[in-house]
This record gives sequence, C-alpha cells and structure tokens, in this order.
Amino acid sequence: MCGIVGYIGQREVVPVLISGLESLAYRGYDSAGVVVVRDGELEAVKAEGKLERLVETLKGESLVGTYGLGHTRWATHGEPSERNAHPVMDSKGRLALIHNGIIENFLPLKKRLIDEGWEFTSDTDTEVVANLISSHLKGDLRAATQQAMAELEGMYAFAAVSTVSGQAEIVAARKGPPLVIGLGDDEFFLASDPAAVLAYTKRVLFLENMDLCRLTDAGPEIWDENGEPVERPAVRLTWDPIQAEKGGFKHFMLKEIHEQSQAIQDTFAGRVDFELNTVGFDDFALTPEEATQIQRVQILACGTSWHSGLVGKFMIEELARIPVEVDYGSEYRYRDPVVGEGVLAIGISQSGETADTLSAMEAASDRGAKLLAICNVPGSQATRVSDGVIYTHAGPEIGVASTKAFTTQLTALYLFALYLRQQRGMAIESELLSVLAGLPHAVAEIMESEAELEEMARRYSRLEDFLYLGRGINYPIALEGALKLKEISYSHAEGYPAGEMKHGPIALIDEDFPVVAIATGSRVFDKVCSNMQEVKARDGVVIAVTDRPAEELAEIADEVIQVPRSSDLLQPVVNVIPLQLFAYFVAVRRGADVDQPRNLAKSVTVE
Ligand code: F6R
Repeated sequence: MCGIVGYIGQREVVPVLISGLESLAYRGYDSAGVVVVRDGELEAVKAEGKLERLVETLKGESLVGTYGLGHTRWATHGEPSERNAHPVMDSKGRLALIHNGIIENFLPLKKRLIDEGWEFTSDTDTEVVANLISSHLKGDLRAATQQAMAELEGMYAFAAVSTVSGQAEIVAARKGPPLVIGLGDDEFFLASDPAAVLAYTKRVLFLENMDLCRLTDAGPEIWDENGEPVERPAVRLTWDPIQAEKGGFKHFMLKEIHEQSQAIQDTFAGRVDFELNTVGFDDFALTPEEATQIQRVQILACGTSWHSGLVGKFMIEELARIPVEVDYGSEYRYRDPVVGEGVLAIGISQSGETADTLSAMEAASDRGAKLLAICNVPGSQATRVSDGVIYTHAGPEIGVASTKAFTTQLTALYLFALYLRQQRGMAIESELLSVLAGLPHAVAEIMESEAELEEMARRYSRLEDFLYLGRGINYPIALEGALKLKEISYSHAEGYPAGEMKHGPIALIDEDFPVVAIATGSRVFDKVCSNMQEVKARDGVVIAVTDRPAEELAEIADEVIQVPRSSDLLQPVVNVIPLQLFAYFVAVRRGADVDQPRNLAKSVTVE
C-alpha cells in the first residue's frame, strides 16, 4: 500500500525522505515522488517505477529545503504513471498532497469541484482531496483540512504542505490507514510505518483515527475528531534499526527465514517458567474466573495470519478445550455473526493495521466479545482497540511474504492456549514446555538443509502448478506453503486437505503437477502416505515433508525433505520452514522480485 513520509527539522530534507521511502518500499509501490517547499515555492519530482528511478531523476534537479513530503504509490485509482504519482498539486498550485487509501465519494466531489472551476490533470482520487482542501484554504492549512475531512468519505491517511500559510508546517490526517510521528531532537518525522523513522528516532506517537496533526519544528499539535486539542502518548520502540537492514542476505525474506529460530525464542522468553511449569504474560492477564467464562473463541485474521489462526484452533481446542471458529476478517465483517458474552475474539495481525481484520475486530467487539490482539507492531491500531495484547517478538518484518511473523504467531498461540489451560485449572505437563524449549533448535536445524532445498527448487522451478497436501493441524501449513509459492514465484499452487484430494483435485495429477505432501506426526501419517500412493499410482510426482527416516518413504516419494520431530501441536512451526525456503528458491530461480512481489502490499490498509 502507499507509503507516506514527511520531515521537518534542520537536515537537508530530500535524503531523509528517500531513506524513509526506501524503508517503506517493502509495502509495495509502482511510482514515487517527493515535494520540498523552498522560498514559498513547491518543488516536486516524481517517477514511475522503482525508487532508483526517482533518485536518478532527482540528480538532475536541485531540490533543497528542510521540510517536505515523500510518497510511494500503489495504484488504486488510475494506472501507475508519473502523471498519477504523488505528490499531487491542487490546480492553483497552492498545496501538495500525498495520500494512502481510497476516497469513496471522489466522483461527486470531483464533479462539484469542476463546476466550481477546479481543474484535474490526473485520474487519482487524491487530486480531489488536494483541490478540496485548497477550496477551503484562506491561509490556515489546518482549518482548511478540517473542513475538507468533514466532506470526505472512505478510508485515508494524507499529508499536505502549502505555500499559503507562510510558515513551515506539515498537516496530516488519518481515518483508517496508520500514521506515526517520529519525535527527534528539534526534528520531527511523519510516516505510514515506524520502520521509516527507525534510523532517526525510536520515540514515536501514533495518530488515532480522525486525528488531525500539524507538525512544525516545535513538534506535533494534534486535534481529535471533535476538533479538540489532544495529546497522544509517546511510545519507545524496542526494535533495532539494524533489524530493518538486510545484513548480508540477498533478500529480506531469506534473512527473516533465518531469524525465525531467534524470533521464536524471543516470543516465549520471559513468559514461561520451565521449573514451575507455568505460563504468564507481563502485559496481559486473565483471572481463572475470566478464563473459565470464555465459552467460545473467534479468531479473525487475513492471509498468512489467518493460516496461523487455523493452527491456533487446534492448539486452543486441544489444550484448553474451548471451541474455536476461525474467520477471514473480510468475510466476518459482512456477516451477522453470533457473538455475545462468553466470546473471546482474537485478532491476529503482523502489522496491526490490516483494514479487514480491524473491521472484523470492531464488529466482534460491538456484539459483546472481549478482544485480544496477537500482533507484532507495538502501538499499532489492533493493539490500541483491544482489551489485551500478546506481542509476537519477531522484530520488523520487511519482506512482503510473511515468514517470521507466522512462526512467532504460532508460538504466541501455543503460549496462549497453554495459559488458558492453566487458568482454567488444568496442569501444564512438563513435556508441553520442553518441546517448546526445543523448538528454536529444531528450526535452526532445518537451515542445514538450505543448499539441498535450493537444489530441489532448481529441479521444479520451471513448473507452473503445484498441489500442497496436509491433514489436521498440517492442512493450514499446506495452505501456507502454497500461498508462499504463489505470491513470490507466481507459480500456481493450491493447498488442500489431503483426504479431500480424491474428491476432485486428483483429476489434475500428472508428471508436471508435483504434489507437496506433509507427512509428519502420528495421527494421520498413514493416511497421508495413502494419499501419496494415490498420486504415485497416477504418475504424479511427490515431494514429501516428513519427520520419519527417508527410507520409509522411498517407495512413495520422489523427493524427501526431512524435518526434526517436534510435538503434534508444534510440528507445523517446523514443517513450514522448508516450504518457505522452497518457495524462496523457486522464486529466485524464476527471477522474481522476492521482497516486493508484483501487485502485493505488505500492509493492506484498504478494503
Ligand atoms: C502473506 C502475507 C499476507 C498477510 C496478510 C495479513 O505472506 O503476508 O497474507 O499475512 O495481508 O497481514 P497482517 O498479518 O499484517 O494483518
């Protein structure tokens, strides 16, 4: 999704804006631009395509100044082009605006503005906002923005600079997509995501929905939706800027795959007492009575986070004996779900800003559910709207394809299931914890097969279709393996419950349609082996992921990926790692842009 950055202070602004945009590039974009205000003039440079093109174009310009805005655009209204790139000017050239989100009533507003004499040169809904604010602008940019906000429908975050107010200021507003202010010493930053300010400051504050902010070199002033001045608390990020760099890896995704062992350990560290066999959270607690009152759990999430919810269902049902439903945020919000007292809704989100997940959480809360967020980004919207938060300690995840966020979500869900078990009066047996303690090592062990997986990926990278099979708690891992492959390599891949194959997909099997089968654990191992046999009997190719000796599968698998044995409930964490690596190496082999796959955005802040 579009990325917003802004800076006001003493530094030369363009390099700050470019470094912020580079940090936001992972969100996905197709054009970029910057604007600087100098001597009462707006100077903007824009370019279609990658940031390198913007940087190249800037070399021929002399943009200098100490405040301005930068933007990466992910096209919604209007094709990706320099003409539609942001910053967008109003037709009188009095202000420049950058925007993330969708203005739903842009057509009637545009028609009215055209009737009033405003001109439009792009296809964007953004230009409507620029002209609308300008139509109210009498000298006070904040007042004009506030008037415009009252007329805008949809979800948006935007920022504007103007030559009319006569002073150095940035005005920003949000309704939906996030905006964070970085608090430096006599310098201030604005961004869609804390990653963009991390190189300069770890002190940030998050704007709330409908906040309007005026940023000058004296700092931020904020007004709430009623126009009342408000203070928003400053938060100190614990992330290290180094974590947001590639650190010698070719791609963020590969680095993040490697970080998983540590991230899993960081997620359970300090939350488990391995001597007393107890689980507790520093910043979240349920009394035994509250835990006992939970009659149902509803998990709400999108994409990879939804897959972790599907695994979480097995964990919570088995360990805490509470029924669990798992919903896509985008589906739940448009149903009329049965909620009420006794329901705990868990929103799972890496970013904490996914619009569909947030709306579903709101819908659950409106219907009487208690809200828990499992989230990776401190201070994000999901954490602010929830009654409690369990943070995954994955550190910044930059690669668009989620990897370490997923495995730390699974770790957090396992911890939460154990915690519910304990608070509902059931003992946590030591094996449940010892297997958790061994998980980082098991994950690290798989990395030793990296070269083998790279070689295997080479053999399959020319193929266009893959079927991933899993059963029980590993069915979501089949879905996740398939999602990883399709999103970064653009090969078609489908995840399917192994037992369902004979009800349809078996018709597709041939030698060019490999089947990746997850055959681990004890409960359904034999059943999955039968499914592999069914594939072999039809001249299909089988790639098996197993915790058994390779010889056991020699007859029914063409390739065997061996993984260490964990427990049935934690085996999915182990099993997904080779599937992430396989997808990564296939994508690299196919020459795909692994960290920024086409059409995808890291944080999906619009519907
Ligand atoms: C896939 C992926 C997406 C996200 C989804 C939800 O690799 O990253 O499917 O999982 O967009 O994002 P969050 O977890 O930020 O709510």
